[in-house]
Amino acid sequence: MNEISKERWDVDFSIRLGSLILKNPLLAASGTYGYGRELNNILKTDDFGGICTKSITPLARDGNEPPRIAELKMGMLNSIGLANVGVQAFIQDKIPFLQSLETNIIVNVAGFSIGDYIGVIQLLEDIEGIDGYEINISCPNVEGGLEFGSSSKSAAKLTKALRAETDRFLMVKLSPNITDISEIAIAVEGEGADSLSLINTLIGMGIEIDSEKPILKNVYGGYSGPAIKPVALAMVHKVFHSVKIPIVGIGGISSAEDVVQFMLAGATAVQLGTVNFLNPTALTEILEDLVAIAESKGIRNISDFKGRLKEWD
Ligand SMILES: Cc1cc2nc3c(=O)[nH]c(=O)nc-3n(C[C@H](O)[C@H](O)[C@H](O)COP(=O)(O)O)c2cc1C
Repeated sequence: MNEISKERWDVDFSIRLGSLILKNPLLAASGTYGYGRELNNILKTDDFGGICTKSITPLARDGNEPPRIAELKMGMLNSIGLANVGVQAFIQDKIPFLQSLETNIIVNVAGFSIGDYIGVIQLLEDIEGIDGYEINISCPNVEGGLEFGSSSKSAAKLTKALRAETDRFLMVKLSPNITDISEIAIAVEGEGADSLSLINTLIGMGIEIDSEKPILKNVYGGYSGPAIKPVALAMVHKVFHSVKIPIVGIGGISSAEDVVQFMLAGATAVQLGTVNFLNPTALTEILEDLVAIAESKGIRNISDFKGRLKEWD
Protein backbone atom coordinates (compact mmCIF):
# COMPACT_ATOMS: atom_id res chain seq x y z
CA MET A 1 0.00 0.00 0.00
CA ASN A 2 1.21 3.49 -0.78
CA GLU A 3 2.63 5.64 1.94
CA ILE A 4 0.12 8.34 2.67
CA SER A 5 1.98 11.51 3.32
CA LYS A 6 1.65 15.14 2.52
CA GLU A 7 4.14 14.78 -0.33
CA ARG A 8 1.90 12.39 -2.21
CA TRP A 9 -0.58 14.98 -3.36
CA ASP A 10 -0.72 18.68 -4.09
CA VAL A 11 -2.86 19.15 -1.01
CA ASP A 12 -0.96 19.66 2.24
CA PHE A 13 -2.63 17.38 4.77
CA SER A 14 -0.48 18.24 7.75
CA ILE A 15 -2.20 20.03 10.59
CA ARG A 16 -1.19 21.53 13.91
CA LEU A 17 -3.13 20.29 16.90
CA GLY A 18 -1.92 22.23 19.92
CA SER A 19 1.74 21.28 20.29
CA LEU A 20 1.43 18.33 17.89
CA ILE A 21 1.97 18.22 14.15
CA LEU A 22 -0.15 15.51 12.51
CA LYS A 23 0.62 14.31 8.99
CA ASN A 24 -3.09 14.29 8.29
CA PRO A 25 -6.20 15.25 10.27
CA LEU A 26 -7.58 11.69 10.65
CA LEU A 27 -7.07 9.90 13.95
CA ALA A 28 -8.27 6.47 15.00
CA ALA A 29 -10.95 6.79 17.71
CA SER A 30 -10.44 5.12 21.06
CA GLY A 31 -11.89 1.63 21.38
CA THR A 32 -12.28 1.11 17.67
CA TYR A 33 -8.66 0.47 16.86
CA GLY A 34 -7.47 -1.56 19.83
CA TYR A 35 -3.82 -0.87 20.59
CA GLY A 36 -2.84 -0.12 16.99
CA ARG A 37 -1.63 -3.61 16.02
CA GLU A 38 -4.94 -5.38 15.47
CA LEU A 39 -5.71 -4.02 11.99
CA ASN A 40 -2.14 -3.40 10.91
CA ASN A 41 -2.21 -6.23 8.35
CA ILE A 42 -5.23 -4.67 6.59
CA LEU A 43 -4.22 -1.04 6.73
CA LYS A 44 -0.92 0.60 7.61
CA THR A 45 -1.67 1.96 11.04
CA ASP A 46 0.91 4.72 10.45
CA ASP A 47 -1.28 6.16 7.75
CA PHE A 48 -3.44 7.69 10.45
CA GLY A 49 -2.45 11.17 11.59
CA GLY A 50 -2.66 9.75 15.09
CA ILE A 51 -3.92 6.80 17.11
CA CYS A 52 -6.06 7.20 20.22
CA THR A 53 -5.65 3.94 22.10
CA LYS A 54 -8.35 1.98 23.86
CA SER A 55 -9.07 3.56 27.27
CA ILE A 56 -6.43 2.50 29.80
CA THR A 57 -7.32 2.08 33.49
CA PRO A 58 -5.00 1.31 36.42
CA LEU A 59 -5.98 -2.37 36.54
CA ALA A 60 -7.00 -4.78 33.78
CA ARG A 61 -10.77 -4.96 33.22
CA ASP A 62 -12.87 -7.64 31.57
CA GLY A 63 -15.68 -5.16 31.03
CA ASN A 64 -19.39 -5.98 30.96
CA GLU A 65 -20.93 -9.36 30.25
CA PRO A 66 -22.06 -10.17 26.70
CA PRO A 67 -24.09 -9.47 24.69
CA ARG A 68 -22.27 -6.16 24.77
CA ILE A 69 -22.21 -5.11 21.15
CA ALA A 70 -25.00 -4.89 18.57
CA GLU A 71 -25.29 -3.58 15.05
CA LEU A 72 -28.41 -1.51 14.48
CA LYS A 73 -29.81 -0.06 11.23
CA MET A 74 -28.03 3.29 11.50
CA GLY A 75 -25.29 2.63 14.00
CA MET A 76 -23.82 0.49 16.70
CA LEU A 77 -24.66 -0.06 20.35
CA ASN A 78 -21.92 -1.12 22.76
CA SER A 79 -21.57 -1.69 26.47
CA ILE A 80 -17.98 -2.94 26.42
CA GLY A 81 -17.45 -1.31 29.82
CA LEU A 82 -13.84 -0.17 29.45
CA ALA A 83 -12.40 -3.65 28.96
CA ASN A 84 -8.63 -3.20 28.69
CA VAL A 85 -5.33 -4.78 29.70
CA GLY A 86 -4.54 -2.27 32.47
CA VAL A 87 -1.65 0.16 32.50
CA GLN A 88 1.13 -2.30 33.49
CA ALA A 89 0.41 -4.74 30.66
CA PHE A 90 -0.15 -1.82 28.32
CA ILE A 91 3.37 -0.59 29.05
CA GLN A 92 4.91 -4.04 28.77
CA ASP A 93 3.02 -5.55 25.83
CA LYS A 94 1.42 -2.76 23.82
CA ILE A 95 3.73 0.25 23.99
CA PRO A 96 6.66 -1.32 22.07
CA PHE A 97 4.56 -1.74 18.91
CA LEU A 98 3.02 1.72 19.27
CA GLN A 99 6.53 3.19 19.65
CA SER A 100 7.52 1.63 16.33
CA LEU A 101 4.79 3.51 14.46
CA GLU A 102 5.43 6.70 12.58
CA THR A 103 2.38 8.47 13.81
CA ASN A 104 1.25 10.35 16.88
CA ILE A 105 0.33 8.14 19.83
CA ILE A 106 -2.32 9.51 22.12
CA VAL A 107 -3.08 7.31 25.08
CA ASN A 108 -6.72 7.42 26.14
CA VAL A 109 -6.96 7.32 29.94
CA ALA A 110 -10.00 6.36 32.03
CA GLY A 111 -10.74 5.88 35.70
CA PHE A 112 -13.30 5.85 38.46
CA SER A 113 -11.58 8.41 40.69
CA ILE A 114 -9.18 11.29 40.06
CA GLY A 115 -6.49 9.10 41.63
CA ASP A 116 -7.07 6.43 38.96
CA TYR A 117 -6.36 8.88 36.14
CA ILE A 118 -3.33 10.32 37.95
CA GLY A 119 -1.97 6.84 38.60
CA VAL A 120 -2.12 5.88 34.90
CA ILE A 121 -0.52 9.13 33.76
CA GLN A 122 2.27 8.96 36.35
CA LEU A 123 3.27 5.51 35.09
CA LEU A 124 3.25 6.69 31.46
CA GLU A 125 5.06 10.00 31.96
CA ASP A 126 8.61 8.64 31.62
CA ILE A 127 7.84 6.44 28.65
CA GLU A 128 9.05 7.68 25.30
CA GLY A 129 6.94 7.74 22.20
CA ILE A 130 3.73 8.91 23.82
CA ASP A 131 2.68 12.21 22.30
CA GLY A 132 -0.23 13.01 24.56
CA TYR A 133 -3.26 11.89 26.50
CA GLU A 134 -6.93 11.84 25.69
CA ILE A 135 -8.99 11.86 28.87
CA ASN A 136 -12.19 9.85 28.74
CA ILE A 137 -14.47 11.66 31.17
CA SER A 138 -17.49 9.48 30.35
CA CYS A 139 -16.73 7.33 33.39
CA PRO A 140 -18.66 7.12 36.65
CA ASN A 141 -16.93 8.92 39.49
CA VAL A 142 -17.13 6.57 42.50
CA GLU A 143 -16.57 9.51 44.81
CA GLY A 144 -19.28 11.69 43.28
CA GLY A 145 -21.70 9.21 41.71
CA LEU A 146 -22.25 10.85 38.33
CA GLU A 147 -19.85 10.71 35.39
CA PHE A 148 -16.89 13.14 35.47
CA GLY A 149 -18.11 14.55 32.18
CA SER A 150 -21.63 15.24 33.36
CA SER A 151 -20.88 18.49 35.21
CA SER A 152 -18.53 21.35 34.50
CA LYS A 153 -17.38 21.26 38.13
CA SER A 154 -16.21 17.63 38.12
CA ALA A 155 -14.78 17.88 34.58
CA ALA A 156 -12.81 20.99 35.59
CA LYS A 157 -11.55 19.40 38.81
CA LEU A 158 -10.26 16.37 36.94
CA THR A 159 -8.63 18.49 34.23
CA LYS A 160 -6.90 20.68 36.82
CA ALA A 161 -5.50 17.63 38.62
CA LEU A 162 -4.17 16.09 35.39
CA ARG A 163 -2.74 19.35 34.09
CA ALA A 164 -0.61 19.46 37.24
CA GLU A 165 0.78 15.99 36.39
CA THR A 166 1.88 16.45 32.78
CA ASP A 167 3.27 18.89 30.27
CA ARG A 168 2.29 16.55 27.45
CA PHE A 169 -0.55 17.34 25.05
CA LEU A 170 -3.75 16.95 27.08
CA MET A 171 -7.03 16.48 25.23
CA VAL A 172 -10.28 16.02 27.12
CA LYS A 173 -12.97 13.92 25.44
CA LEU A 174 -16.42 15.33 26.07
CA SER A 175 -19.62 13.39 26.60
CA PRO A 176 -22.74 14.32 24.64
CA ASN A 177 -24.97 13.09 27.47
CA ILE A 178 -25.24 16.50 29.12
CA THR A 179 -27.42 19.61 28.95
CA ASP A 180 -24.94 22.20 27.67
CA ILE A 181 -21.70 20.97 26.14
CA SER A 182 -20.30 24.51 25.83
CA GLU A 183 -20.39 24.99 29.58
CA ILE A 184 -18.26 21.87 30.10
CA ALA A 185 -15.92 22.82 27.24
CA ILE A 186 -15.30 26.29 28.73
CA ALA A 187 -14.64 24.82 32.20
CA VAL A 188 -12.14 22.28 30.84
CA GLU A 189 -10.37 24.90 28.72
CA GLY A 190 -10.13 27.10 31.82
CA GLU A 191 -8.15 24.40 33.64
CA GLY A 192 -5.52 24.10 30.96
CA ALA A 193 -6.62 21.42 28.49
CA ASP A 194 -4.79 21.76 25.16
CA SER A 195 -7.63 20.39 23.06
CA LEU A 196 -11.14 18.93 23.22
CA SER A 197 -12.37 15.85 21.41
CA LEU A 198 -16.09 15.32 20.95
CA ILE A 199 -18.31 13.40 21.03
CA ASN A 200 -18.21 10.14 22.93
CA THR A 201 -21.18 7.80 22.42
CA LEU A 202 -24.79 8.76 23.15
CA ILE A 203 -26.69 6.69 25.71
CA GLY A 204 -28.86 4.23 23.80
CA MET A 205 -30.89 1.04 24.14
CA GLY A 206 -32.19 -1.70 21.88
CA ILE A 207 -35.00 -4.18 22.52
CA GLU A 208 -35.53 -7.60 20.97
CA ILE A 209 -39.16 -8.45 20.37
CA ASP A 210 -38.74 -12.27 20.34
CA SER A 211 -37.14 -12.48 23.75
CA GLU A 212 -38.73 -9.26 24.99
CA LYS A 213 -35.33 -8.41 26.46
CA PRO A 214 -32.91 -5.53 26.02
CA ILE A 215 -30.38 -6.28 23.26
CA LEU A 216 -27.51 -5.59 25.64
CA LYS A 217 -27.13 -7.48 28.92
CA ASN A 218 -26.17 -4.13 30.47
CA VAL A 219 -29.53 -2.72 29.17
CA TYR A 220 -28.01 0.66 28.19
CA GLY A 221 -25.04 1.19 25.96
CA GLY A 222 -23.23 3.78 23.90
CA TYR A 223 -24.69 4.56 20.49
CA SER A 224 -22.24 5.42 17.69
CA GLY A 225 -22.04 5.48 13.88
CA PRO A 226 -23.69 7.49 11.10
CA ALA A 227 -26.89 8.22 13.06
CA ILE A 228 -25.04 10.37 15.60
CA LYS A 229 -23.27 12.56 13.05
CA PRO A 230 -25.75 15.48 13.08
CA VAL A 231 -25.64 15.55 16.90
CA ALA A 232 -21.84 15.57 16.88
CA LEU A 233 -21.69 18.23 14.18
CA ALA A 234 -23.97 20.55 16.16
CA MET A 235 -21.89 20.04 19.29
CA VAL A 236 -18.61 20.72 17.49
CA HIS A 237 -20.12 23.90 16.03
CA LYS A 238 -21.34 25.07 19.44
CA VAL A 239 -18.04 24.33 21.17
CA PHE A 240 -16.05 26.01 18.36
CA HIS A 241 -17.89 29.23 19.14
CA SER A 242 -17.24 28.87 22.88
CA VAL A 243 -13.52 28.05 23.22
CA LYS A 244 -10.18 28.90 21.61
CA ILE A 245 -8.42 25.54 21.95
CA PRO A 246 -8.54 23.16 18.95
CA ILE A 247 -11.36 20.66 18.58
CA VAL A 248 -11.19 17.10 17.31
CA GLY A 249 -14.57 16.10 15.89
CA ILE A 250 -15.91 12.58 16.40
CA GLY A 251 -19.22 10.95 15.58
CA GLY A 252 -20.40 8.92 12.64
CA ILE A 253 -17.66 10.03 10.27
CA SER A 254 -17.45 7.65 7.32
CA SER A 255 -16.60 9.73 4.25
CA ALA A 256 -14.45 12.62 3.07
CA GLU A 257 -17.59 14.76 2.90
CA ASP A 258 -18.18 14.08 6.60
CA VAL A 259 -14.61 15.15 7.39
CA VAL A 260 -14.99 18.40 5.47
CA GLN A 261 -18.31 19.11 7.20
CA PHE A 262 -16.71 18.69 10.64
CA MET A 263 -13.84 20.96 9.64
CA LEU A 264 -16.21 23.63 8.28
CA ALA A 265 -18.04 23.47 11.62
CA GLY A 266 -14.77 24.16 13.41
CA ALA A 267 -12.88 20.90 13.91
CA THR A 268 -9.11 21.01 13.42
CA ALA A 269 -8.96 17.21 13.10
CA VAL A 270 -11.38 14.29 13.34
CA GLN A 271 -11.47 10.71 14.57
CA LEU A 272 -12.76 7.66 12.75
CA GLY A 273 -14.61 5.25 15.04
CA THR A 274 -17.36 2.82 14.11
CA VAL A 275 -16.42 3.05 10.43
CA ASN A 276 -13.23 1.09 11.23
CA PHE A 277 -15.43 -1.94 11.99
CA LEU A 278 -17.65 -1.53 8.93
CA ASN A 279 -14.89 -0.72 6.46
CA PRO A 280 -11.36 -1.29 7.76
CA THR A 281 -9.79 0.53 4.80
CA ALA A 282 -11.99 3.61 5.19
CA LEU A 283 -8.99 5.77 6.08
CA THR A 284 -7.29 5.29 2.72
CA GLU A 285 -10.50 5.92 0.79
CA ILE A 286 -11.32 9.02 2.81
CA LEU A 287 -7.85 10.51 2.28
CA GLU A 288 -8.07 9.95 -1.45
CA ASP A 289 -11.54 11.49 -1.65
CA LEU A 290 -10.42 14.43 0.46
CA VAL A 291 -7.87 15.35 -2.19
CA ALA A 292 -10.60 15.52 -4.81
CA ILE A 293 -12.82 17.73 -2.65
CA ALA A 294 -9.94 20.02 -1.69
CA GLU A 295 -8.77 20.35 -5.29
CA SER A 296 -12.29 21.06 -6.55
CA LYS A 297 -12.50 23.91 -4.04
CA GLY A 298 -9.00 25.22 -4.70
CA ILE A 299 -7.84 24.33 -1.18
CA ARG A 300 -4.13 23.55 -0.85
CA ASN A 301 -3.90 23.25 2.91
CA ILE A 302 -6.49 20.98 4.45
CA SER A 303 -6.56 23.15 7.57
CA ASP A 304 -8.04 25.97 5.48
CA PHE A 305 -11.41 24.23 5.77
CA LYS A 306 -11.46 24.87 9.50
CA GLY A 307 -14.34 27.06 10.66
CA ARG A 308 -15.13 28.29 7.14
CA LEU A 309 -18.84 27.70 7.57
CA LYS A 310 -20.78 30.59 6.05
CA GLU A 311 -23.86 32.15 7.60
CA TRP A 312 -27.20 32.60 5.89
CA ASP A 313 -27.87 36.23 4.87
C1 LIG B 1 -16.90 -0.66 20.40
C2 LIG B 1 -16.56 0.72 20.88
C3 LIG B 1 -15.67 0.88 21.94
C4 LIG B 1 -15.34 2.16 22.39
N1 LIG B 1 -14.46 2.30 23.42
C5 LIG B 1 -14.08 3.56 23.84
C6 LIG B 1 -13.11 3.72 24.86
O1 LIG B 1 -12.54 2.76 25.40
N2 LIG B 1 -12.79 4.98 25.25
C7 LIG B 1 -13.35 6.10 24.67
O2 LIG B 1 -13.01 7.23 25.04
N3 LIG B 1 -14.27 5.96 23.66
C8 LIG B 1 -14.64 4.73 23.25
N4 LIG B 1 -15.55 4.59 22.22
C9 LIG B 1 -16.16 5.81 21.62
C10 LIG B 1 -15.49 6.19 20.30
O3 LIG B 1 -14.12 6.50 20.47
C11 LIG B 1 -16.22 7.39 19.64
O4 LIG B 1 -16.16 8.51 20.50
C12 LIG B 1 -17.69 7.10 19.35
O5 LIG B 1 -17.86 5.76 18.90
C13 LIG B 1 -18.29 8.03 18.31
O6 LIG B 1 -17.62 7.96 17.08
P1 LIG B 1 -18.11 7.03 15.84
O7 LIG B 1 -19.57 7.32 15.63
O8 LIG B 1 -17.25 7.42 14.70
O9 LIG B 1 -17.89 5.62 16.28
C14 LIG B 1 -15.91 3.32 21.76
C15 LIG B 1 -16.79 3.14 20.68
C16 LIG B 1 -17.12 1.87 20.23
C17 LIG B 1 -18.07 1.73 19.07
